Amino acid sequence: MINHQLLFARAYEKEGCAEIPSAARPRFHMTPCVGWTNDPNGFSFYKNQYHLFYQYYPYDTVWNSMHWGHVVSDDLLNWKYLPCAMAPDEPYDSFGVFSGSAIELPDGKQLLMYTGVLKEGGDHGKDVQTQCLAVGDGLDYHKYEGNPVLDASDLPEGMSRNDFRDPKIWQEADGTYRCVVGTRIPDKEGAILLFSSPDGFKWKYESILIRNDGRFGMMWECPDFFELDGKHVLLCSPQDMLPEGFEYHNGNGTLCLIGQMDAERKHFTYEHDQSVDYGIDFYAPQTTLTPDGRRIMIAWMQNWDTCDQNGAKERKWFGQMTLPRELSIEHGRLYQRPIRELDAHRSNKVEYKNVTVDGLMTLPGIEGRIVDMEITIRPKDKNAMYHKFGIWFAQNEQFRTMVSYRPHESTLKIDRKHCGSRRAYIHQRRSLIPYQDGEVKLRLILDKYSVEVFVNDGEQVMTATFMTTPEATGISFCADGQVEMDITKYDLFAEE
Ligand code: FRU
Repeated sequence: MINHQLLFARAYEKEGCAEIPSAARPRFHMTPCVGWTNDPNGFSFYKNQYHLFYQYYPYDTVWNSMHWGHVVSDDLLNWKYLPCAMAPDEPYDSFGVFSGSAIELPDGKQLLMYTGVLKEGGDHGKDVQTQCLAVGDGLDYHKYEGNPVLDASDLPEGMSRNDFRDPKIWQEADGTYRCVVGTRIPDKEGAILLFSSPDGFKWKYESILIRNDGRFGMMWECPDFFELDGKHVLLCSPQDMLPEGFEYHNGNGTLCLIGQMDAERKHFTYEHDQSVDYGIDFYAPQTTLTPDGRRIMIAWMQNWDTCDQNGAKERKWFGQMTLPRELSIEHGRLYQRPIRELDAHRSNKVEYKNVTVDGLMTLPGIEGRIVDMEITIRPKDKNAMYHKFGIWFAQNEQFRTMVSYRPHESTLKIDRKHCGSRRAYIHQRRSLIPYQDGEVKLRLILDKYSVEVFVNDGEQVMTATFMTTPEATGISFCADGQVEMDITKYDLFAEE
């Protein structure tokens, strides 16, 4: 039986969604049906389609009592809204159906594993967070009568039952299941716990997979743990991070640890750490495997500290997901490339080779707001290094956002202070690009309200959103000194 709260949300979102014209949304970045979204949840391939659930509050454009929204896609680019999958309608999740993941069961049903939150002592009391299940067919989901399946009694000594959330489930080769869950040792550091299950329903504590030992923020949210290119990778989103050099500047930011799993001790040790994304708007990434074996990641394209509501009420939606990205490990680092499905939607190719940029210039045919641009730059004269190279986009007389490179500092910067924002939240971020003699390769993926900059074939990515009026379609180049540039630009989804 589907209960009242879910039926109400489904009816509300049907009307609300119909009031938002598709022109008021990004072209290929997922936005909520109506209202608010944060984390991607339950990213999975099930019944021949990609399913993506999302943290969802349909009734307003701000965070509130969490539901799970639901979309499906054949290509990870065109998303179709399905009815809201879960509402906070049980005593153990009455404060919210928080983040989690999905997996297919042997009987062909889909299992959702999520965090149920209830408030102890009323709305201003403390969270009690437990892990819960729902089973469904890709459309309707029924919460498991044995919920919660993991609660405070499953926690090792000293771990917080108030911060115990975001289960990521997977199946082992022998058919049994594992999940990782984020937690916190009160007033101290974050940790990731490992649990196991023979069938996906009966769960037991296994180990502390890793703890942060005073580094990398406090509570570790939204863990994901998987094998990639012969290594184990832990992705998570630590709250309250301190910057270290050019890493970890996002407050509540993201962390990628690459290392080894000690199967006997059930413990993960890392050899390498890095931010997942070096821009501004990126949080809570989650991965899945495609049928052809690619590890794909999607994230909330937002930062908790930059949730500017300017215009959100009129638009009736807030929050976007990133373009899904293909992951690999190269040179000991996490590499990310735009999903190859995007290539099929490129058209109107415009190409220039060895263009000299010296001062400010535009190029015929290089403009647009929904585009894919590959740009390689180098000094025109190796003995006369330029000082700065910049690309302006989402540009008109009033507005612009810029990506610029300074070879003397080896830094790449995103700067959106002129994007139309009237608020003083962070508008710039710099990232250190290993020294390249002034040569850098950039791939910029622009959708209506975002840019994702893939640097040097995916060695780093910088992501930022901007709510600039869509009529600002200008693209310009500028250089202080002489730069030689190759550029290939495509429109995306132009003929569709
Ligand atoms: C991360 C997060 C998760 C939680 C969800 C609630 O952005 O705080 O830890 O499950 O958002 O919406």
